Amino acid sequence: MVLKLMEFYLNNKILGIVVFLFLTLFSCKNKDKAIEEPTKKIVEYDMYQPSEMAGFMNAMYAYNQQLKAQIVAGETPARLPLDLLKLHSAEMTDGKSRTENWQSFVNVFIESQEAIVDTLSNIELKERYNAAINNCLNCHKTECTGPIPKIKKLLIQ
Ligand code: HEC
Repeated sequence: MVLKLMEFYLNNKILGIVVFLFLTLFSCKNKDKAIEEPTKKIVEYDMYQPSEMAGFMNAMYAYNQQLKAQIVAGETPARLPLDLLKLHSAEMTDGKSRTENWQSFVNVFIESQEAIVDTLSNIELKERYNAAINNCLNCHKTECTGPIPKIKKLLIQ
């Protein structure tokens, strides 16, 4: 009985650590912690509060995951339910701002994401899709490197 309880506790602890690692690995918030004052640090460890932009990025991730599945299955996606102009207005995590690099990548990205659902395009669908994902990566190389491994998984080989 005691052993069973201990086992359960350990398993949960490991699960907790895995979840924590996952959150820190795939978010770029952790990099900023070093320059933040200690009081704020504690609050951030207690609960992960994604910014409006982080939330939107995760929605874009989920949407592209769905596009990938459709394209691999031979379907032609025609819907873009996200308002990409939010990239220009969404609030970012404290300390982050729209840098010159951001500005140089954002519109190219928006155009490439829109091109995926352009059913009249004569460029191959997979090529248009991968171009958009590569534009996610281009911006992330300078703006937020944490999610890069996760975004790479969206590419269609
Ligand atoms: C123009 C630059 C730019 C483009 C393009 C871009 N991102 Fe981001 N991304 C960022 C920045 C900056 C953040 C950090 C936002 C914040 O913390 O407020 C971010 C955060 C993220 C996060 C982490 C969210 C979290 O929970 O902290 C993921 C995942 C992500 N982006 C995926 C994507 C995907 C997928 C695409 C393409 C469909 C994409 N990004 C396109 C700049 C970009």
